[in-house]
Amino acid sequence: MRLQGKRAIVTGAAGALGRVIAETLAAEGADVAGLDLNAAGLEETAELVRSHGVRAYSATADLTDFDAVQDAVAGVVAEWGGIDILLNGAGGGAVSFFHEMTAETWNTQIARNLDSVFNVTRAVLPSMLQQKSGRIINIASIAAVSGGRLVRGATAYAAAKAGVVGLTKALAIEVAESGITVNALAPGAQATPGRDNDTPERREALLDQIPTRLLGEPQHLAQTVVFLAAPEAVNITGLILPLDGGHSI
Ligand SMILES: NC(=O)c1ccc[n+]([C@@H]2O[C@H](COP(=O)([O-])OP(=O)(O)OC[C@H]3O[C@@H](n4cnc5c(N)ncnc54)[C@H](O)[C@@H]3O)[C@@H](O)[C@H]2O)c1
Repeated sequence: MRLQGKRAIVTGAAGALGRVIAETLAAEGADVAGLDLNAAGLEETAELVRSHGVRAYSATADLTDFDAVQDAVAGVVAEWGGIDILLNGAGGGAVSFFHEMTAETWNTQIARNLDSVFNVTRAVLPSMLQQKSGRIINIASIAAVSGGRLVRGATAYAAAKAGVVGLTKALAIEVAESGITVNALAPGAQATPGRDNDTPERREALLDQIPTRLLGEPQHLAQTVVFLAAPEAVNITGLILPLDGGHSI
């Protein structure tokens, strides 16, 4: 119970990684508020969270909408009095080759993966600054580092996630003396349901790019979130942690 009494927001909490992270934080004693577009999925996550005897809160919002996010976060802060941990996990990629990409596809990818991180962090930060403590953990991607070599056609996604990396480092410096740490995970391919449709050839090609020949386990990723949120990580900030089986070496 390393996070007993802590209050966490998890964005993308209805998704594959967000749900495992939300439940893992709850198992460590944290209250968890999920933010996502998917109301039914959020409710399923909230039930898992409550099963650990902690408080759950759900807010359905489009995280690319600045005002909607302000309202959603204000609701959590009004209910719980503050936020100790922010996990920015909402996002996701779509394959689109650069030479034929529309401006709409570009803007959608940047909004989903980068604006959402700005909007939620901007809404949460004032209460963290006030309490002079907080942990912000962003989920970037190894695509931000390796140019999306695992999936071709990921320029907009890679650019947005590289933006998350830059935001993470710059904000880490900006708030370093306020008791707030800001870090990011850079996962490679994870063993989430999104991978279930891989053909054997596609899976082989993927594993050929990963020195350990292992996909990431969501539960292992969630444990790194717990570590970065735990008291002993107080002096770790601005870290971009690859979880990629050595792909980016
Ligand atoms: N799964 C992987 O292999 C992998 C690898 C590297 C990085 N990531 C990143 O990890 C994060 C989670 O990935 P996942 O595999 O769980 O994906 P997922 O699609 O299962 O979950 C993403 C969640 O984000 C929510 N979301 C998307 N856009 C939103 C918006 N505008 N407003 C509110 N909610 C929104 C979706 O509703 C969904 O519940 C993403 O940021 C993704 O880019 C995943």
